[in-house]
Amino acid sequence: MESDNKTAGRRVLSGMRSTGQLHLGHYHGVLKNWLKMQHEYECFFFVADWHSLTTHYESTENLEQNMWDMVTDWLAAGVNPKISTIFVQSKVPEHAELMLLLSMMTPLGWLERVPTYKEQQEKLKDLDLATYGFLGYPLLQSGDILMYKADLVPVGEDQVVHVELTREVARRFNHIYGRDPGFEEKAQRAIRKLGGQKKRLYERARVSYQEQGDLDALVAGKQVVENHPNLTVADSERLLGYLEGGGRVILVEPQAMLTPVPKFPGLDGQKMSKSYNNTISLREDIDDVQKKIRTMPTDPARVRRSDPGEPEKCPVWEWHKVYSDDKTRDWVQQGCRSAGIGCVECKKPVIDAVIAEVEPIQQRVAEMESNPDMVRGIVSEGCERARDTARETMDEVRHAMGLQYR
Ligand code: TRP
Ligand code: SF4
Repeated sequence: MESDNKTAGRRVLSGMRSTGQLHLGHYHGVLKNWLKMQHEYECFFFVADWHSLTTHYESTENLEQNMWDMVTDWLAAGVNPKISTIFVQSKVPEHAELMLLLSMMTPLGWLERVPTYKEQQEKLKDLDLATYGFLGYPLLQSGDILMYKADLVPVGEDQVVHVELTREVARRFNHIYGRDPGFEEKAQRAIRKLGGQKKRLYERARVSYQEQGDLDALVAGKQVVENHPNLTVADSERLLGYLEGGGRVILVEPQAMLTPVPKFPGLDGQKMSKSYNNTISLREDIDDVQKKIRTMPTDPARVRRSDPGEPEKCPVWEWHKVYSDDKTRDWVQQGCRSAGIGCVECKKPVIDAVIAEVEPIQQRVAEMESNPDMVRGIVSEGCERARDTARETMDEVRHAMGLQYR
């Protein structure tokens, strides 16, 4: 899978709840970032269908269609199944097993203290979220991430706490289950196996990191271990853990990676979201794209064409920030403030840019919809691949927890 130009050993995992057809907010906020990352990292992208159930367990009738629609949109937007693994959570039941095992050692307070727990209960008042599944959902997410030993998890701001929780869970797991008897001696024996120069490099890196917190040394030490051609998996886990001063690293602590466009503006200037009814879908009919943007609210002070306006008070300006080049933006700023241009005129370049963006995506959606077997094939292949990795992780987890018997 991994090609030479990808940053060695760096793995990305990200998921989306199965919400169905995606809109421009998903495209700019999440998908464009995925498209870029798939060339830089080994990526796993998945449909978090079980996560949808943690809130919407009472309405499952659209679950399947939403899943296909969403995957189709991913593919149409350019997620490339040849270089990324695309899968569906419920097709990799190992996720449930990992969550179960993690739940044994996760203090209840860690979950109760996740801010989204109370917030979402408040916000989604019409749903009964006093359920075990809803409380446990951040742990389900931890399992998703730890299963693939992901180094990086691209998420929105609201999800950073879940990645933090995941780090704590991994640390606790490694601490409890990563210290097999004789850990120290086994680590020393593994160091000797590194041989001559590598051995010295590792030892120096370990000291610099543990005594001076030198992060470059940590990276260098990891590289020695990860690039070593003939270490066993157990030895390399031991050496990674020993390098940082902990037990054997069985589960890898991930880093959150904030998505660069956290809040894509909706038609009304609020964050674009289905629940605000302010979206343009990637599959929006072209006439409706025009209509929706043409009727977008503008600076409310600009009642007549001859009234000057202020872009900072206008949702359309937010869209120019995304879609227009400097020249067009200057034209907007000057034209608006001097009443030199009208709002209809001002919206024109935005309309053109949105259409240019969605048209090719829509073409690809149409191609895929006329060949549903292709999408099915891609997903089932991705699930197989994900499962291979999941099985490996679960073998290690079971082993570490004393569940290796058959
Ligand atoms: N909880 C995320 C959301 O609601 C979706 C998700 C589930 C996820 N598992 C994940 C995101 C793992 C990143 C990594 O948006
Ligand atoms: Fe908004 Fe453009 Fe009209 Fe100014 S000219 S109020 S920026 S739409």
